[in-house]
Amino acid sequence: MKKTVIYSVILLLVLSSCEYNVENEEVQVVDNECSTEVSYSSTIRPIITTNCMPCHSGDGSEPFAPDLTTYTLVKNLDVLIKQATQSRRMPRNGTLTDNEIAAIKCWVDNGSLNN
Ligand code: HEC
Repeated sequence: MKKTVIYSVILLLVLSSCEYNVENEEVQVVDNECSTEVSYSSTIRPIITTNCMPCHSGDGSEPFAPDLTTYTLVKNLDVLIKQATQSRRMPRNGTLTDNEIAAIKCWVDNGSLNN
């Protein structure tokens, strides 16, 4: 009888430690999928204004650089913008930080919302 109790306690400990690990992994997976919401107006727009407007303002000074002055224009090119910044091809002068590049990726992955 005593043995059964001891085995039960050990089994419980093992089970509860497994459960703990599973919870930890789930949290990490959610993080990798950009669970935190990235705001267009407070994060993405300022990044574009500071780093892309010198060439993407549509004023004709860089005729081949697509106009990125409004949400709709940015939304239409969202996947290209993600690719160009992930590969660090854009901005041409390489001014984005790793966090800014990650924010753009998450914003696009979350559906490029006008939030
Ligand atoms: C120094 C000028 C300059 C800056 C700064 C710049 N771009 Fe560009 N961009 C260009 C030019 C010129 C083109 C067109 C020719 C080409 O594709 O290289 C272009 C093309 C693009 C394209 C079209 C698709 C493609 O991949 O070519 C995207 C998307 C883009 N830029 C995104 C951005 C974003 C986002 C930023 C800011 C984070 C940015 N660019 C900053 C000059 C610039």
